[in-house]
Amino acid sequence: MIEFKQVSKKYPTGQLALYNVNLTLEAGEMVFITGHSGAGKSTLLKLVALLERPSCGDVLIGGRSLNQLGRSQVPSYRRRIGFIFQDPHLLYDRSVFDNIALPLRIAGMGQTETRRRVQAALDKVGLTGREKPSR
Ligand SMILES: Nc1ncnc2c1ncn2[C@@H]1O[C@H](COP(=O)(O)OP(=O)(O)OP(=O)(O)O)[C@@H](O)[C@H]1O
Ligand SMILES: [Mg+2]
Repeated sequence: MIEFKQVSKKYPTGQLALYNVNLTLEAGEMVFITGHSGAGKSTLLKLVALLERPSCGDVLIGGRSLNQLGRSQVPSYRRRIGFIFQDPHLLYDRSVFDNIALPLRIAGMGQTETRRRVQAALDKVGLTGREKPSR
């Protein structure tokens, strides 16, 4: 469950991106967030992924306030979240395979399981055979 309680976000530039947002999303619920450019959609997602912190208010995930999470707990929290960026932030000096494998390697996954999961992910989106650059 994701809850926003009176959440506002003001960036250091003074830009108020979100003001007093209250919402509750139940587990398994599927939602679309729509709005004009600059409405605050990305800011809202960034608060869930802890890429930004609210200026005031509270974001709760599964009943637990993200305000309680310290910096050292952020990486393990983020591993539970799937986040697809508008700008994919790929590493252009690495192959497709290595880009997909990177978080699995950081998480300490073994080579065999990493390879299996990378292949499965590529297969799912019809990109089998694209893991290495063609020469
Ligand atoms: N890092 C930042 N520093 C200062 N202002 C920001 C920052 N990020 C976003 N903003 C501002 O906050 C407001 C909300 O931006 P946000 O990116 O959340 O909107 P959005 O709904 O995702 O827009 P788009 O549809 O263009 O992706 C905008 O006015 C934007 O200029
Ligand atoms: Mg956006």
